[in-house]
Amino acid sequence: MVLNKQRVAGISLLIAASLLLAIGCSDPNEAPGNTPATAPPSDGQIQRAYTMKCSLCHGTDGRLMASKAPDLSLSKLSVEERVALITYGKGTMPPQKGILDDATIRGIAKYIEQFRD
Ligand code: HEC
Repeated sequence: MVLNKQRVAGISLLIAASLLLAIGCSDPNEAPGNTPATAPPSDGQIQRAYTMKCSLCHGTDGRLMASKAPDLSLSKLSVEERVALITYGKGTMPPQKGILDDATIRGIAKYIEQFRD
């Protein structure tokens, strides 16, 4: 059998496309194959990032106050102040610069507003 180069290329493309689709499908909130690197983080991604990076000290409702963390429901900081604080950290609160991207940090800064009374 003669190897058909076009056919081989076609199959490789198909494999590459299905791999991309599989990656795109890993987050149920995202449409398959519709997640360019610049896409804003989804609500689910922001919530997961908060759970992983913040709930340890602040709790899922912002009121845990572990490791001397203040009650976020009583916070009076503006969005910009929160973005700066989350980015650079303060005291024992660890900085997220280089760990979370700017869009996710901003998303979390807005997300925690729901903890306020
Ligand atoms: C290791 C524990 C710890 C973790 C993890 C942590 N924080 Fe904090 N957080 C603190 C402490 C302690 C302070 C008080 C800092 C100070 O004023 O010295 C604080 C302060 C804050 C404040 C300011 C509240 C106010 O009005 O004074 C906000 C907002 C905040 N944290 C949000 C977050 C977010 C969002 C995350 C996740 C990205 C996070 N924190 C992760 C311990 C933590």
